Amino acid sequence: MSIEIVKEIESLKKDRNALLLVHNYQDPKIHELGDFIGDSFELARRSKFTDKDIIVFAGAEFMAETAAILNPLKKVLIPSSMAKCPMAHMLTPKKMKYYRTQYPNAIIAVYVNTTAETKAMADICITSGNAVRVIRNLDNKQVLVGPDRNLAHYIQQQIPDIEVIPFPKVGHCYVHQKFTPSDIEKLKVQFPEAEILAHPEVKPSIQKLANKICSTNGMLKEARNSLSDKFIIVTENGLVDRLRSSFPTKLFIPARKDAICIQQKKITIYNLYLSLLNNRYRIHIPPNVAKKARLPIERMIELSG
Ligand code: 13P
Ligand code: SF4
Repeated sequence: MSIEIVKEIESLKKDRNALLLVHNYQDPKIHELGDFIGDSFELARRSKFTDKDIIVFAGAEFMAETAAILNPLKKVLIPSSMAKCPMAHMLTPKKMKYYRTQYPNAIIAVYVNTTAETKAMADICITSGNAVRVIRNLDNKQVLVGPDRNLAHYIQQQIPDIEVIPFPKVGHCYVHQKFTPSDIEKLKVQFPEAEILAHPEVKPSIQKLANKICSTNGMLKEARNSLSDKFIIVTENGLVDRLRSSFPTKLFIPARKDAICIQQKKITIYNLYLSLLNNRYRIHIPPNVAKKARLPIERMIELSG
């Protein structure tokens, strides 16, 4: 990484009064420049309480959209227009409308990995870091969860007294879907004392093998607090970099070498620099959509405790 471009980014951040929010899956060079690095929930919360004029989001587009929904008067930028999470487009407004009529008594909880239009039709938003707590606090016996079926399965296991219905036919994350039980079994033989940390987006057959299922921030917390010094990491490999730099004396083993989110990796130091320099790419959410989408996000923040 050239020292000049890092200096340019730092001085542009200062001149423009910009906040740089960085998701845990980003490249370590981008982590180093971030004002806050975190999971999707932590970053949404940080965006809500900033007094900066501009928010630059190094993460997936749905995360930047969430920041824009919470900050209608601020400029929210994403350095690449290609950082679109495919899962966020699986639960369409048309499907929301149809299943609302099919389950009139259910609360509709949408994963933060959705578009602004879909959030605008939801009762509540959830992330991997707060889904169980938020749904427990809802006080409703039936909850429709989507688009991620694996997350819905995880929530159901944690709260058996509520009926958790995954949205029929949608959806999953192609990165987390790659992990197979044999990936984990092989590593367990090699590192029998390692703790297995998995994201709730992995398949139920992998969830069964994990010692702990948590969000990316949850994994950082577990690595800090656990007595173990070896961990098998079952999520996108950007988190492995983040864990290694945060806890250099511990060993982190990626469950697969190809667990890479191509869309999040579209963000680079160079397009981050151009983003700050040229105000690109600005997130635009139609005001009527933003107004409706804000309610389920605000409600999630409130119920997260
Ligand atoms: P976290 O909220 O756990 O960081 O997850 C976001 C995501 O996109 C996982 O694939
Ligand atoms: Fe979307 Fe999966 Fe990438 Fe997360 S890892 S942003 S769910 S494609």
